[in-house]
Amino acid sequence: MRRESVDIGFCFILIANNNQLKEDDNRTQEFMELPDRNTDYRDKSYWDDRYSKEEAFDWFSDYEAFKHLLKDDIKTADKILILGCGNSLMSEQMYHDGFLNITNTDYSPVVIENMRNKCQHKYPSMSWEVMDILNMTYEPETFDVVLEKGTLDALMVHEKDPWNISEETEKAIENVLHQIHTVLKADGKFISVTFAQPHFRKPHYARKIFDWSVEQKHFGQNFHYYYYVMQKGSNLSVEDIKKENERTAKKLRNKNEEDRTIEYLEYEDNENFLNGIEL
Ligand SMILES: C[S@@+](CC[C@H](N)C(=O)[O-])C[C@H]1O[C@@H](n2cnc3c(N)ncnc32)[C@H](O)[C@@H]1O
Repeated sequence: MRRESVDIGFCFILIANNNQLKEDDNRTQEFMELPDRNTDYRDKSYWDDRYSKEEAFDWFSDYEAFKHLLKDDIKTADKILILGCGNSLMSEQMYHDGFLNITNTDYSPVVIENMRNKCQHKYPSMSWEVMDILNMTYEPETFDVVLEKGTLDALMVHEKDPWNISEETEKAIENVLHQIHTVLKADGKFISVTFAQPHFRKPHYARKIFDWSVEQKHFGQNFHYYYYVMQKGSNLSVEDIKKENERTAKKLRNKNEEDRTIEYLEYEDNENFLNGIEL
């Protein structure tokens, strides 16, 4: 099968544009300058600069479009952690729907300061904290729900081919997922909202090292977005385990093949070609 290489950063920009130009949005979103390179979405300075000019923006989709899914998965009394909140209206809208115990985090101090100034008096039981998802400092088993929208995507924007993510990015995602798993209570849920389709995103989430099950849904009319729920303490489905085993076996085969190629090239390098020359 021929696979087209889809640049993740390009998809990200396309979606950002699509959102900014949406006409049915009931609030005004200023048109932000797009970054010079899509890899800028990985730079904290890009986000700090953006948030010093932009008041509100919801990536991918706003709460209205997927609140029916969230309401099935979250109880109003749950203690909720939002990763990479940005200046999205999601947590304010959730608050109006009765989800009062929300900790909003982002690694941009600019957006955290802005959001605190804007919201802390209106929503006294919510908090805003600067936190890097690569290095979270919460105590284990603190939250009932960890929720992210577009934040893990921002960690992958520099990848050119979603079928072949670099080992460095794979490790970074694994690190974040370990931390999410740790801060979740024993029966907690990790909810991830993204544009990444299951064949790209599930290999990261559906792994035996995380003691959770993975369920996926989608929403949106013209463009589908994906909603993944990882339930801690539940088993992966037989199908997910089988797929992970297949992926692991394939990786091992590729690695063995690579090792053999390296051995062969080293052998050729060491060969004394003068021996083969008849004088
Ligand atoms: C695509 S935006 C999504 C914003 C918001 N969640 C939304 O749905 O509109 C990605 C957000 O992740 C934040 N971010 C990127 N890398 C991060 C990291 N390592 N730790 C914490 N936040 C990060 C950025 O500052 C930005 O606010």
